[in-house]
Amino acid sequence: MDTVLSGIRSTGNLHLGNYFGAVKNFIKMQEENNCYFFIADYHSLTTYPTPEDLHNNVKSVLAEYLATGLDPEKSTIYVQSDIPEIPELYLLLNMNAYVGELERTTSFKDKVRTQPNNVNAGLLTYPVLMAADILIHKSHKVPVGKDQEQNLEMARKFAKRFNHMYKVNYFPEPQPYNFGEALVKVPGLDGTGKMGKTAGNGIYLVDDDKSIRKKVMRAVTDSGPTEANSIITEPIQNLFTLMGLVSTPDTVDFFKEKYASCEIRYGDMKKQLAEDIIKFVMPIREKILSIKSNNDYLRKVAEQGAEQARENASKTLREVREIIGFRKF
Ligand code: TRP
Repeated sequence: MDTVLSGIRSTGNLHLGNYFGAVKNFIKMQEENNCYFFIADYHSLTTYPTPEDLHNNVKSVLAEYLATGLDPEKSTIYVQSDIPEIPELYLLLNMNAYVGELERTTSFKDKVRTQPNNVNAGLLTYPVLMAADILIHKSHKVPVGKDQEQNLEMARKFAKRFNHMYKVNYFPEPQPYNFGEALVKVPGLDGTGKMGKTAGNGIYLVDDDKSIRKKVMRAVTDSGPTEANSIITEPIQNLFTLMGLVSTPDTVDFFKEKYASCEIRYGDMKKQLAEDIIKFVMPIREKILSIKSNNDYLRKVAEQGAEQARENASKTLREVREIIGFRKF
């Protein structure tokens, strides 16, 4: 069975796009593989969160993933900073990471351009820490989005370099995990493109009813169809796509027919969509809030995850130290 590792950013709430995309796939992935999911809180230090924010962010992310279906009985779920073996492997990998290649990564060059006053060494070696996350479990596969492909490529490079340097075949070269069927693309509310955090066009699982209504009512539309059976424009198709995810087929058909006969009133459609989103999100939101307020449960999950992860991580580190030559007398 493949070992699959997923790293989750420690900031940001889940929106509907995440829910129908990555999260749905994670749930399936954990049935078929030996999965590790961890919250990358060390990485977040490159942007200096306050201690309260750091802690709260990790708590929210953990609660949201547990509420949406990550199962601590099926996977190992842990917080990166609970695993001291990761920074130790990071130290060792740093010795074989070249400043030149780190400086040439796209994400580092972006940071140099956008925040020239805070180009810290943590940013430079970000891909090395990520490689340590991956290699500590000798992972075979890692699900990554487009923006993380280069980092995964660096992890492969460091794995190969280690194997070559010590003439061993120790680390597998981690490959991208493919979700099989095409990812569900959830559109945003701004007329074009998909739902995303940076686009600011998202509906979050923890949004309250009022803000969901407000966001949906503000969604971009057009001036309405003027000819019977005309092709649905992109902003309206986006509303239909969202409806397809949260409303009954009857509801979708009803508005499709209204569109085809040019009788559609977007205000009515949006009202219906908002209520159906609220109905869909409500039980998930309640579960998130209930888990988030259950500190004992969160502690238990994190402790159990850390224990399982450390068992595997310490084995890797012991072997790596032996290979490198740190040996007992
Ligand atoms: N850098 C990833 C992101 O921003 C998070 C991450 C940290 C990660 N370590 C990882 C992802 C290891 C996959 C594997 O999304």
